[in-house]
Amino acid sequence: MSMCSRMIGSSALCVGLCIAQSGAFAADAPAAPTGKTPAEVVQNAPKGSLQNPFKTTDADRVQKGHDLFMSYSCNGCHGGTGGGGMCPPLTGDVWFYGISDDTLFRLVTLGSIDLQKAGFEHLGGPTGMPMPPFGNILKSDEELWEILTWVRSVYKGDPKKKTWE
Ligand code: HEC
Repeated sequence: MSMCSRMIGSSALCVGLCIAQSGAFAADAPAAPTGKTPAEVVQNAPKGSLQNPFKTTDADRVQKGHDLFMSYSCNGCHGGTGGGGMCPPLTGDVWFYGISDDTLFRLVTLGSIDLQKAGFEHLGGPTGMPMPPFGNILKSDEELWEILTWVRSVYKGDPKKKTWE
């Protein structure tokens, strides 16, 4: 799988090659991280297309995700276990904008004000506080996917609503 994804962007020739080979890939295989900032990634990805390439069974990614969560001070608002502090918990099955990878990636990247400007509706009651944008603070999409992998790993909501592994 990765031969093709590594080549994407490296040459125009690759585009044709990748399209020719794409039949070999699972239709819904998430793209590998690009190394770009989350802000850049969101700008270029069509709505609904972003998917976490990591799984909660990958203990190293989960651990790194929690380290990043703490080092970027997400815990200051959401609590060190994601169980909520002055802000909403990240462990349940109620999500203000939806539960998908694509939505959560965009929310943390854009913050809640710009997310709403991008057409996402706030589904719950008002929280009275915005989620700040981290799209230019986190160094790469890889970091944000790791954080979101950790978030997935602390999920305690309805198992039927899980759309990830
Ligand atoms: C200044 C406080 C603050 C900080 C720091 C913060 N958040 Fe938030 N976060 C919020 C608030 C407030 C909301 C709810 C926004 C809304 O209701 O529109 C939220 C919502 C969220 C949600 C969606 C929760 C839901 O129920 O839908 C996720 C995921 C999230 N934050 C992740 C993070 C991550 C990851 C970081 C660190 C990179 C972070 N937050 C840093 C305040 C914060």
